[in-house]
Amino acid sequence: MGKLDRKTVLITGASRGLGHALARRAVAAGARVALLARSADGLAELAGQIERDAGPGRTFHRSVDVRDAAAVGAFVDDAAAALGGLHVVVNNAGVGRYAGLLDQDVAEIDFTVDVCLKGPIYVSRAAIPHLLAGGGGHIVNVASDLARRPLARMAPYAAAKHGLAGFSGSILREFKDRGLRVTLLNPGIMDTWFGGTTPGRSRDGAMPADTVAEMIVDVLGWPAHVVVDEIFAHPLRQDF
Ligand SMILES: NC(=O)c1ccc[n+]([C@@H]2O[C@H](COP(=O)([O-])OP(=O)(O)OC[C@H]3O[C@@H](n4cnc5c(N)ncnc54)[C@H](OP(=O)(O)O)[C@@H]3O)[C@@H](O)[C@H]2O)c1
Repeated sequence: MGKLDRKTVLITGASRGLGHALARRAVAAGARVALLARSADGLAELAGQIERDAGPGRTFHRSVDVRDAAAVGAFVDDAAAALGGLHVVVNNAGVGRYAGLLDQDVAEIDFTVDVCLKGPIYVSRAAIPHLLAGGGGHIVNVASDLARRPLARMAPYAAAKHGLAGFSGSILREFKDRGLRVTLLNPGIMDTWFGGTTPGRSRDGAMPADTVAEMIVDVLGWPAHVVVDEIFAHPLRQDF
């Protein structure tokens, strides 16, 4: 039996990077997956691969921007209806750029904060009734090691991720008596497309997305009476 048999896992930012790797890993562990990102092509390609490999009925996907609360709400309800409820949410979509504060205009600051902080709030608010209806459920908020420490030239991003840490701990305490578990995941450098990079840096020590995805599936498989409320993971070669 797979760790995620009969579970529906909603993943934001599934068109590439960590979210894409996690979708594949979750399906391999038995899950059905609801996939969200802006890139319709990226999602359709991933859903097609999964359905070819794992069989039909395992995916639901739609192009949605996490900044659009109404579209997020409709996606969550439609995904739960299509896939037989909702058991896990991974708030993974995120954007950020290594740049000085004075080199970021207001539009870029709003974009970073809205995607990294308000997006997970909108998704969680829409999903929690479905998770509670299924007995509690599990939310994984993918933050960053910058959710707990500052770094120069990443100020709006670090601010948004610190906010996500606060949100994560707060909803855990609000809903844990009804069975909801919430995990804040703080990765160091991953080998993805983040911040305009391209994969291929694992030889320099960046963690492969697949390694971090495997860690998330492991945490989701822990017994329901245990909450892993925060995880840090760094490449050994990263200075942190
Ligand atoms: N890579 C690292 O070194 C690193 C380190 C610490 C934490 N993180 C965090 O890890 C998470 C995953 O990032 P990644 O490394 O996999 O980066 P990535 O390869 O750039 O993937 C980011 C994903 O987020 C989606 N996304 C961006 N804006 C969105 C929006 N407005 N609405 C919906 N989806 C949106 C992107 O899809 P579309 O463009 O198609 O919308 C993409 O699927 C992020 O939260 C990031 O902050 C990354």
